[in-house]
Amino acid sequence: MSQTKIAPRSAVPDSFSGSNPTQTCRETLLTYEPLDAPFGVVVRGIEWRDGPPDPEVVAELTRAMRRHLVLVFRGQPSPSHDRANAFWSGFGPLVMDTPDGQFHYNRFSTEKAVNNVLRNKDGGNLVVAGDEGMVELGWHNDQSHKPQFKKISVLENVRFGAGAVPTAFRDMYTVCELLPAEIKARLGGKQGIFFDPRLPGPDKLPRLCDAMHPVLAAHPDSGRRAVFGSDWTMFRIAGMSEADSKSTIAWLRDFALENAPYYEHFWQEGDICVWDNFGVQHRRNHQEPGVERIMRLHEGVAEG
Ligand SMILES: [Fe+2]
Repeated sequence: MSQTKIAPRSAVPDSFSGSNPTQTCRETLLTYEPLDAPFGVVVRGIEWRDGPPDPEVVAELTRAMRRHLVLVFRGQPSPSHDRANAFWSGFGPLVMDTPDGQFHYNRFSTEKAVNNVLRNKDGGNLVVAGDEGMVELGWHNDQSHKPQFKKISVLENVRFGAGAVPTAFRDMYTVCELLPAEIKARLGGKQGIFFDPRLPGPDKLPRLCDAMHPVLAAHPDSGRRAVFGSDWTMFRIAGMSEADSKSTIAWLRDFALENAPYYEHFWQEGDICVWDNFGVQHRRNHQEPGVERIMRLHEGVAEG
């Protein structure tokens, strides 16, 4: 796995006092400590409470997310599902359902989607490695097979035993900015065709796609462009021959592997990682069986 060497970013620049590397925001008293990595920052001082978060906290954490891409909340009590849902809903919905609250093809996916996923007693889902281990998860943006962009993802570590695999992140904004000009021009107006890989293919469940997104997509709030699409959900680039589409997707994958700033997160118990799911992709290796690795997905209303 290649790793681009880029110095860690300094802490969030606005309204801060204190000395490096940890900086405290005067207004919200949140503290920030950049990771020893190309991106990512540890945040302390969040108070979980009922109801939505303060607008100043949302604004500040949004700025921090734009700059650092991955926020690691560390050394804090675990929030109840209701409190976590209320807090993070202030940043946009965590599960991108259709207006009636149901994913169109949900009934086709519930059986397979729950592999290794258990309902937590107070809501949310737990992903448990257990006796079976877990298959490798390739680079992806969560829920990229759905029509709306999921802007943030929230994942909490409950247990990270010896031998548990880390979660890796990579910065696809920088990949987009490093693309050669002629590739950018060629892909500028192109749309990717996405399918949910857990569903029957279009031959068995006839449909044109589950979602279409620009290959070089602009974040709905910031406008910053990223190379978008998961290795296993973007099947084709519309408007290209099948051969062209295949070779272009393969080229983009190689380019991203070679150039993406990369960070591997070894979870500490209780860490809650919140990341920009639009411009940051994540993956993990195959998990050997018999290792304690329990993760909690804070997704608001869970699927299925
Ligand atoms: Fe994921």
